[in-house]
Amino acid sequence: MTRTVYVNGEYLPETEAKVSIFDRGFLFADAVYEVTSVLDGKLIDFEGHAVRLKRSLDELEMAEPCNKDELLEIHRKLVELNGIEEGLVYLQVSRGSDGDRDFVFPPADTQPSLVLFTQNKPGLADSPAAQKGAKIISIDDIRWGRRDIKTVQLLYPSMGKMMAKKAGCDDAWLVEDGYVTEGTSNNAYFVKNGKIVTRPLSNDILHGITRKAVLRMAAEAQMEIEERLFTIDEAKKADEAFTTSASAFVMPVVEIDGVALGDGTPGPIAKRLREIYLDESRKAAI
Ligand code: PDD
Repeated sequence: MTRTVYVNGEYLPETEAKVSIFDRGFLFADAVYEVTSVLDGKLIDFEGHAVRLKRSLDELEMAEPCNKDELLEIHRKLVELNGIEEGLVYLQVSRGSDGDRDFVFPPADTQPSLVLFTQNKPGLADSPAAQKGAKIISIDDIRWGRRDIKTVQLLYPSMGKMMAKKAGCDDAWLVEDGYVTEGTSNNAYFVKNGKIVTRPLSNDILHGITRKAVLRMAAEAQMEIEERLFTIDEAKKADEAFTTSASAFVMPVVEIDGVALGDGTPGPIAKRLREIYLDESRKAAI
């Protein structure tokens, strides 16, 4: 089925949507993005994604393409036009183009490019991958120092997923100065003796919208949480581990660098958090 996508004010069939070859997103990865999940045809945590988008734009001194209400309307319209019950809405804002390639930013009044499209993912919530759990490898984190800004510089995360795939695994966790930063496209956690451990927020990791919601829900469920640096060896000795992201919610991790965690199946805390997250998110979806 041909999707209807959104490009700079127009809803178009995906085959007719165009962005300039001089667009700075294309030439310099000078663009930021958000991925918002859809359950029951409704948006999960739209507010959180809109707030983070604004922050990413501000950090890069990039103009806002439109206001939050307009963004919400575009998200909803695309979900409706494409009949998405379960899936994702991808949004990208780039600094646009003034019609040439130049490292120097174009004038501040250059129109940013705004592109959104949907991805239909039936079975996103009831995912067989989450029932199985993910096997991960650890790799060096060689990304830039502003991972708190959600830019489209995703070549290394992509390479990380390929390294995992070649090793017969599902994903990779990134390690810097001996400590786990995050997953290629998710935040990372382990559980030992009932306590959830995850890296604190800083410029070293993306401030996950799912992370924030899951930690709040875990605290409400009286679970113990510790935000601190941790090594991959500590995670390998854990009772269980998991990741969080808008595209996979809470994903149990069952193996790290070939070492099975617990009995090698998704752990009880990860499973419970996934259930709570899906349940609460569905109720709050808009
Ligand atoms: N990735 N860390 C990184 C590096 C990410 O790319 C993501 C999200 C997260 C989790 O953030 P959130 O909970 O807000 O989705 C953490 C998205 C899903 C992606 O690139 O597709």
